Amino acid sequence: MKGIVLAGGSGTRLHPITQAVSKQLLPVYDKPMIYYPISVLMLAGIREILIISTPSDLPNFRRLLGDGSQFGLELSYAEQAAPNGLAEAFVIGADFIADDDVALILGDNIFYGQGFSRTLQAEVAGLDGCVLFGYPVKDPQRYGVGEISGDGTLLSIEEKPAVPRSNKAITGLYLYDNQVVDIARGLRPSARGELEITDVNMTYLRQGRARLVELSRGFAWLDTGTHDSLLEAGQFVQVLEHRTGVRIACLEEVALRMGYIDADECHRLGAKLAKSGYGDYVMDIAKAAGATA
Ligand code: G1P
Repeated sequence: MKGIVLAGGSGTRLHPITQAVSKQLLPVYDKPMIYYPISVLMLAGIREILIISTPSDLPNFRRLLGDGSQFGLELSYAEQAAPNGLAEAFVIGADFIADDDVALILGDNIFYGQGFSRTLQAEVAGLDGCVLFGYPVKDPQRYGVGEISGDGTLLSIEEKPAVPRSNKAITGLYLYDNQVVDIARGLRPSARGELEITDVNMTYLRQGRARLVELSRGFAWLDTGTHDSLLEAGQFVQVLEHRTGVRIACLEEVALRMGYIDADECHRLGAKLAKSGYGDYVMDIAKAAGATA
């Protein structure tokens, strides 16, 4: 399976912060926001990743992440010229996806919870159609909303309904089989002029090939869309990291634990960041894993 991180948009809800900097490059405590979704794809076992952003922001993502080989990844980059909707990612990424299955994750979505890596790998391995992830929220009208029956069957999906049928927001992480490219190519823009991911998901739902995996209440799916939620996400990460001494979405550590790089390579990455606590942490975990440096 391949992966796409969609990091476009103009971030208008975060102005003036995002007037000169892409939202997905803003800090969430100790690392750029896009580290969090990239770590999710890595934990799912995905190593070929396409990053899609605006023509003006794309060079900054390239500067930050390069070709990804330092993390044992193959990163490539593509432009979304205008905010034409999430589903356009599959049209832009069609050559990259080729004959593969694909995971899409939104560049501003943060996931944290025990066993997530195992859940993801099981869903990737068993994929038939599409897999969505639902999370209970108090304001479902702000999101795509999924309704499930007692036995867990997905009944309906609605985009930002005024009267939601459930409290299950559909998060910004989606797994699809290769059919998604054709589905996206056949979409018409919605009333707001965008190719809607919800229309893609509705197509799979009509085929009876859409699954909603419920992320439980012990799990955290965080929003970064407003000044308050961005700060709160940073504080959440800070509290967890201070308490446990473990960093969330540290790409060097994820690469090491997934076996994408070895301990010496990990140590070298940490040494380059040695003036920050983040770099010290990366060197420490590399040493604990047997780095010889
Ligand atoms: C998009 C999707 C929505 C989903 C949300 C998750 O909304 O359209 O279905 O629940 O991402 O972050 P947007 O953030 O573009 O308003």
